[in-house]
Amino acid sequence: MHLPTYQEAKTMDKKNYEKKEFFLNPKLVHRYHGTYHLKTYGCQMNEHDSENIKAMLEELGFTQVDDYEKADVVLLNTCSIRENANNKAFGMLGRLKHLKDENKDIVVGLCGCMAQEEKVIHDILEKYQWINFVVGTHNLYQLPEIIAKVLESKEQQIEVFSREQDLVESLPVKRDNPYSAYVNIIYGCDKFCTYCIVPYTRGRQRSRAKEDILKEVHQLIKDGYQEVILLGQNVNAYGKDLNDNYDLATLLEEIAKTTIPRIRFVTSHPWDFTKEMIEVISKYDNICPSIHLPVQSGSNKVLKLMGRRYTKEQYIALFDELKKKKKNCAISTDIIVGFPNESDEEFQDTLDLVDYCQFDNAFTFIYSPRYGTPAAKMKDNISKEVKEARLQKLNEKVNQYFLKNNQALIGKTVDVLVMGKSEKKDGLFYGYTDTMKLINFKGENENIGKIVSVKVLDAKTWSLDGEIANG
Ligand code: SAH
Ligand code: SF4
Ligand code: F3S
Repeated sequence: MHLPTYQEAKTMDKKNYEKKEFFLNPKLVHRYHGTYHLKTYGCQMNEHDSENIKAMLEELGFTQVDDYEKADVVLLNTCSIRENANNKAFGMLGRLKHLKDENKDIVVGLCGCMAQEEKVIHDILEKYQWINFVVGTHNLYQLPEIIAKVLESKEQQIEVFSREQDLVESLPVKRDNPYSAYVNIIYGCDKFCTYCIVPYTRGRQRSRAKEDILKEVHQLIKDGYQEVILLGQNVNAYGKDLNDNYDLATLLEEIAKTTIPRIRFVTSHPWDFTKEMIEVISKYDNICPSIHLPVQSGSNKVLKLMGRRYTKEQYIALFDELKKKKKNCAISTDIIVGFPNESDEEFQDTLDLVDYCQFDNAFTFIYSPRYGTPAAKMKDNISKEVKEARLQKLNEKVNQYFLKNNQALIGKTVDVLVMGKSEKKDGLFYGYTDTMKLINFKGENENIGKIVSVKVLDAKTWSLDGEIANG
C-alpha cells in the first residue's frame, strides 16, 4: 500500500527519473474474460489516460460495455479541479455502492486526480472500504497488476505515489477518435497558480523525449490520422527540464515539417509564450490558427493573487501579436470569477478585457477552493449569489462574441475535418474547422475522416451550418 501526502506532493525538488518501457507480464495477457466500464471526468489529459486504461484492460482480456450496471469492473478516472468534479465522482460512487450491495463480485476502482488527494484517500480508507482499488496518476502503468492482485487476493489495494515516477513509454492505447489523436508532450506543472490543484495531482513538469514524440506522430501519420493534439498542462514549458535547448518552438517546427495535416496544442500558459513560438506558429499552415490562452482574470490585482505571473497589459500584447502574425487566428480562454477579494470593479476589468479580446470560445468557472492550495487559505469571501451573478453576466458577454465571430464566417469557405454523421441532426455531417468551430453540414459519407471545404451558410452561438463547397 502506498498513500499520498500533500506535504510530499508540493515539494519542488527535481528528481532524476529514468525512462522505461511499459511491460505487461505475459501471464496476465487475456487472463480474464469479463467486462469493464470506464467513466472519465476532467480534461483532455484524463481523456487520453483513459485511452491507455482501455487498452490495458483489454490486454487483460476485458471488453468494454456502455452500461456500468452490466460491467464486472467499473473504473472512475476522476478530476479534482473544482469541488463539483469531486462531487460528481462521489455521486457515482454512491450508485456503485448499491450495485455492490447486490453483487459483491463487482470490482470498483478509482484513478485520476482525485486518487492523488490525501483527503480523498483518507475518506476512502474510512468510509469506502468496499472500493476495491485506487491507483494514482503517477503509477497508472501498474493498473494491470493492481487489478490482477485485487482479483487474486480480494483485498483492497491502494497504490498512490505522492510524486512522479519514471516516465513510461509504449503504454498501449485504444484511441477514441480515428482521425484526431492526442499526443502527450509534457506531464505535470510547476506553475503552482494559487487556486490550482493540478501541480499536486500531476507532479513536477517532465517533458517526453522528442524522439518518442516524433516516433508517435510518424506512426499516427502512417495510421491515417489527420490531426495531432499535443497535450500538457502547460505545453509552453516543453523542454525546460531537458538539457538540450529543445523547446516547444523547435518541437512544433519539426512536427509541422511532417505530412500531418493539422497540429493543435493545449494548454499554453501566457507567461511562457516565446517570440520563437509565435514565429513558428505563423510560418506553418498545418499549425492550426486556434490557440487556447487562459487569461483567468482581467484585473492585475487578482492576477497577482492568482500567481499568474503576467499582467493584463502583457496578456493583451501577446494576444495582439498572435492576432497580427497568425492569419485568421481564433483565440479561446479560461476565466475564473469570484476569486477571494475580487471586487465589482475588478470583475468589471474582466468584462472589459472580454470586450477587447472578443474571444472565439471561453470556459468560465466559479472559483472553487481546493484543499491544500495557497488560495484555499484566503477567505472565500464572495457570496454564492454574487459569484453566480458574475458568472451569468460573463457568460452573456462571451456568448455574444462567440455568435459575432461565427456570423463573420457566413458566406466564407472553411476547411473542415469531418468526424462523422451528426447524431442530433438527421442527414447532416459534422466536423471542426481549423479554428476549432463545430460545423454541421450537408455532405457525403465519403467525406468522413477527410479535410474538406465547406461553405458557411448560417451561424449560431455554438456552431455553424454549411454545405460542401463546389469545385
Ligand atoms: N493548465 C491549464 C488549465 C488547467 S485547469 C492552464 O493553466 O491554463 C483548466 C481551468 O480550470 C483553468 O484554466 C482555470 O480556469 C480553471 N480552474 C482551475 N482551478 C480552479 C479552481 N480552483 N476553481 C475554479 N476554476 C479553476
Ligand atoms: Fe494549474 Fe496554473 Fe498549472 Fe494551469 S498553469 S495547471 S492553472 S497551476
Ligand atoms: Fe482535472 Fe486532473 Fe485534468 S484535476 S482538469 S483531470 S489534470
